[in-house]
Amino acid sequence: MAESWVNYAERIGSDLHLELSGPGSRRAALIGALRDAVRSGRLAPGTRLPPYRSLAADLGVARNTVADAYAELVAEGWLTARQGSGTRVAERTGALQPAVRGTEPVHRPRARSARHDLRQGTPDVSGFPRSAWLASYRRALNRAPNEVFGPGDPAGRPELRAALAAYLARARGVRTEPNRIVICSGFAHALRLLFGVLLGPLAVEAYGLPFHRELLAAEGVRTVPLPLDEHGARVDRLARERAVLLTPAHQFPTGGPLHAERRAAVVDWARARGAVVLEDDYDGEFRYDRKPVGALQSLDPERVILIGSVSKSLSPAVRLGWMVLPERYVGDVLAAKGEREAWASVLDQLALADLIVSGSYDRHVRRMRQRYRSRRDRLVAALAERAPHIEVSGVAAGLHAVLRLPPGSERSAVEAAVRQGVALDGLAEFRHPDTDMPAHDGLVVGYATPSEHAYGAALEALCGALAPGGPSRV
Ligand SMILES: Cc1ncc(COP(=O)(O)O)c(C=O)c1O
Repeated sequence: MAESWVNYAERIGSDLHLELSGPGSRRAALIGALRDAVRSGRLAPGTRLPPYRSLAADLGVARNTVADAYAELVAEGWLTARQGSGTRVAERTGALQPAVRGTEPVHRPRARSARHDLRQGTPDVSGFPRSAWLASYRRALNRAPNEVFGPGDPAGRPELRAALAAYLARARGVRTEPNRIVICSGFAHALRLLFGVLLGPLAVEAYGLPFHRELLAAEGVRTVPLPLDEHGARVDRLARERAVLLTPAHQFPTGGPLHAERRAAVVDWARARGAVVLEDDYDGEFRYDRKPVGALQSLDPERVILIGSVSKSLSPAVRLGWMVLPERYVGDVLAAKGEREAWASVLDQLALADLIVSGSYDRHVRRMRQRYRSRRDRLVAALAERAPHIEVSGVAAGLHAVLRLPPGSERSAVEAAVRQGVALDGLAEFRHPDTDMPAHDGLVVGYATPSEHAYGAALEALCGALAPGGPSRV
């Protein structure tokens, strides 16, 4: 038995662990080991295998043994060999496909199985500002003092906290200073950090992101649903809770802003009860034809915790967010984070600070705002023409729209969309299980999700699914 770690850093820079065992020839053992690695998914489709010579040297076998094993696996369809690009794991090996598909729930179509992804939650990731991010990263690294590469401060880099304090004041009307801002890896991380600080049940909107509810439930936090009406959450129903989580700029997912009177009322409630409001400002930058709705936090920075992230403005892959805290919570939140920064890359923090200070972040947001506005307009126009019975709501802001449907028709509309290759969610997915407010039928359309070139086809397929009389082109 021979065991080896093969370093084949050229181009792919990763290690390949192979165990050659069994009584047969070395060639058979190598073929078996490689086949197992591909079948189990340990060697992903497209992975480049080490050159014959280096694998042979590392395993202590003849070069021809490796060449023969590769040739056999190419013939069987496990590997592909192309001049100039070496030997790679085949893109589609029959063994892997059923396992991946088998994990997909039937009633919640995921992007991999749908031709058109209109699920909410993701910006157009093809618009990520690669050059600006690279330029910011380079500048940030060039300027960074050596201490940057040591353990990070859990509060976050001062450069980013200062940049955010100025940006949020300018763009969102937030009243704060850098030492009230704690950097985190996004909204979900902020919720986790706040669990231990805000004890007791948490009021939430009756429609919201199930992921956040599940996260809270897993930590034993009871959520109490507040009904919604045309002015947003019914904050008059708040009672003995210690905190409430709201999406005031753009209710998620139904789409309207929280009415001015309710904004004032919820802050009054928090003052009277010694409670706190968590403001999820997830897409506050993206508003189109209405006056910007500033952050609720500005009404009372000692009663509102504003939480934001770059997940909608830049990319959910960056994993950077921020909490703007009342002074009394800063110490507890920092204690919850631990002694060192263990979540948010310090280098990414510096790059984001540079992106903001250099003006590139604003330029990017403005460019994406135009792109999303034009998509929103196309969606509204196409539905007015092809499916005029459907009311489109929640479109003055954000990255998604809600298509209101007649009662009882949501499920069949989702299924019609799936038949057209469109993945999207019905409003029922977002409903709190304990709410007693009447259910609304509707589809949540994430019009920002597809890349620019894919949007037209996605829209066409959606209209095909919703047009009276079924799919036909106009
Ligand atoms: C309602 C809502 N809140 C917050 C977020 C941001 O979450 P995170 O910062 O954890 O990516 C999202 C998704 O982007 C969201 O849909």
